[in-house]
Amino acid sequence: MPECQKNLFDIPSDVTYLNCAYMGPLPNETVVAGQRGIQVKQHPWSMPTANFFPDVVRSKALFASIIGAKSDDISIAPSASYGIATAAKNLVVKKGQSIVLLDEQFPSNVYAWRRKARETGAEIKFAKRRDDYDWALSIVEFIDENTALVAVGHVHWTDGSVIDLAKVSRACKAVGAALVIDGTQSLGVMPFDVSLIQPDFVVTVVYKWLLGPYSYGYLYSAPKRQNGIPLEENWITRKGSDNFAGLVDYVDDYGPGAERYDQGERSNFALTPMAIASLELFEKWSVHAVADYLENLTDKAADAAITLGLSVAPKQARSPHMLGIRLNGQDPQAIAAKMAVAKVIISVRGTAVRIAPHVYNDEADIDRFFNVLEDCLRP
Ligand SMILES: Cc1ncc(COP(=O)(O)O)c(C=O)c1O
Repeated sequence: MPECQKNLFDIPSDVTYLNCAYMGPLPNETVVAGQRGIQVKQHPWSMPTANFFPDVVRSKALFASIIGAKSDDISIAPSASYGIATAAKNLVVKKGQSIVLLDEQFPSNVYAWRRKARETGAEIKFAKRRDDYDWALSIVEFIDENTALVAVGHVHWTDGSVIDLAKVSRACKAVGAALVIDGTQSLGVMPFDVSLIQPDFVVTVVYKWLLGPYSYGYLYSAPKRQNGIPLEENWITRKGSDNFAGLVDYVDDYGPGAERYDQGERSNFALTPMAIASLELFEKWSVHAVADYLENLTDKAADAAITLGLSVAPKQARSPHMLGIRLNGQDPQAIAAKMAVAKVIISVRGTAVRIAPHVYNDEADIDRFFNVLEDCLRP
């Protein structure tokens, strides 16, 4: 996938969209799949009951291949917070133990742990951002025999600085602490393999980097975590649920693997085919190729920022797809608002403007960003 894929999207030529960390645009194919899915529901008399099953299986298989898992390890979750809540419900935390998170972590991966800490008498420790951006070192300094779990992302959502998960995982394994990963800001655009990192749970939504619909995502559970208690007890996750006539012959057994954690109405007839259409693109491109393509763009942006005297994270701390640029004391909100008028769309997180390109961006977008930024920075 060496070329820009803008032709697969409906992005006007005067818009420079560098804000995928906020919301990914839907590829045209995904929109068509969603429209077809809505039409299925428009005419339910021609909809076979079989529609409830094969698309879910395909959707799980596509996501599993992105993280090196098996389909049976995957459940459908409507949000990252749903997946995190499932993990929190099923991980044992004892009084006096600690839960390690990152400073300024996204709230969906904080509130569930605050509740867990309140309910169990555990303590939350927030690993600090260091000047050299070595998050793993900050995290590992907190890990000891008293650590119940670590719940972090692969990158910090505000600026894309990378967390060395292999190092964090080794430290967790050494003391028997669980590891929960929020992959929302990295899966699809950064290689990640569950067999290397060996996490207990991984959550992601698809509406950002996986270019899918809103309210649709996945939860990976390690095989040893697949006999837990789901957040909901829905009919379709039970063994034999494809026999609609027999649904009132209640059964205690769940379907295989992590199926028990699937959200209610997991077969959503519009969102499932949309997620499939988007993930099929990643299957075609490969995550490695996407990461390489984006790394070229963010490197170019980082070089240009440094030339302008602005500050960015050093190369070894940067992810391929996100770059926080600090503006030497200029108000990032005011700059982003001015840039939006010129249809250059970025976000502000903390004290940085954050650019977040995807496969529909090219070098011309990075040039345009800096031309407009220079104009906006002029007094
Ligand atoms: C790191 C991270 N996790 C999760 C989410 C979304 O969480 P939820 O699906 O609970 O709304 C976001 C949204 O910006 C995010 O940046």
